[in-house]
Amino acid sequence: MRKPMVAGNWKMNGLSSSVRALIEGIQQEPHLSSSIDMVVFPAAVHLSLVRDLLAGTSLAWGAQNLYLGENGAFTGEISGSMLTDLGCRYVLVGHSERRALFGEDSALVAAKFQAALQARLQPILCVGETLKQRERGETEKVIQEQLAAVVKKAGISAFRQALIAYEPVWAIGTGLTATPEQAQAVHIAIRRYLAEQEVDIAQTIRILYGGSLKADNAPQLLAMPDIDGGLVGGASLEAKSFLAICQEAMAVKLGQRVA
Ligand code: 13P
Repeated sequence: MRKPMVAGNWKMNGLSSSVRALIEGIQQEPHLSSSIDMVVFPAAVHLSLVRDLLAGTSLAWGAQNLYLGENGAFTGEISGSMLTDLGCRYVLVGHSERRALFGEDSALVAAKFQAALQARLQPILCVGETLKQRERGETEKVIQEQLAAVVKKAGISAFRQALIAYEPVWAIGTGLTATPEQAQAVHIAIRRYLAEQEVDIAQTIRILYGGSLKADNAPQLLAMPDIDGGLVGGASLEAKSFLAICQEAMAVKLGQRVA
């Protein structure tokens, strides 16, 4: 069985005081992280604070971005080996905000994915279509292209160390969510694409859903057989709403509900 994961992408939010408060809030329910994987992705400047606050707990943390290589003249960038050195385990790669706002194309995303693995980080590869692409019926094609670029660069076996997050761009931060059926259809399509190359990877890789995931829509989305958890933006910025989604993941996926 694939272990459920709920990850909070904090994006460019938080000051050290609110980060402390949020971590403290999330730690109020330690039983959750013994059943499911819970991961937070703070801004880079808060990584070492979060590492220290989470030391000795089963909550994990990761970075939102990395750059290529180990070091060099890349002002403002952070390498995979710097993240590993810090104790980091996960890194997001190819988030739609990086693709759309910072011009990351599929080739750069693929190179970052490979750089993450070289640094022994576990990448969470984000894929997703825009509203226009969905309306034109191109959803599967777009996602296949995003995956294919990474397979071409890093090889299919690299996906053994990775997770995928399906985040329809039109659902991110908009309050719109993919219906459970829409999301499930894409998750299945991702597994089908991977299965053409390695059946066991298609079956074992964890695929998270992201895009206006909240406690009230989580039960239906997480009940879908090919959705293994969530990558949460806005609702991860408050301990209560993040924990509520984690509770739902535990209840729906593992049949455990804690009062
Ligand atoms: P929202 O949950 O705010 O829609 O953001 C999703 C996301 O981008 C997570 O990476």
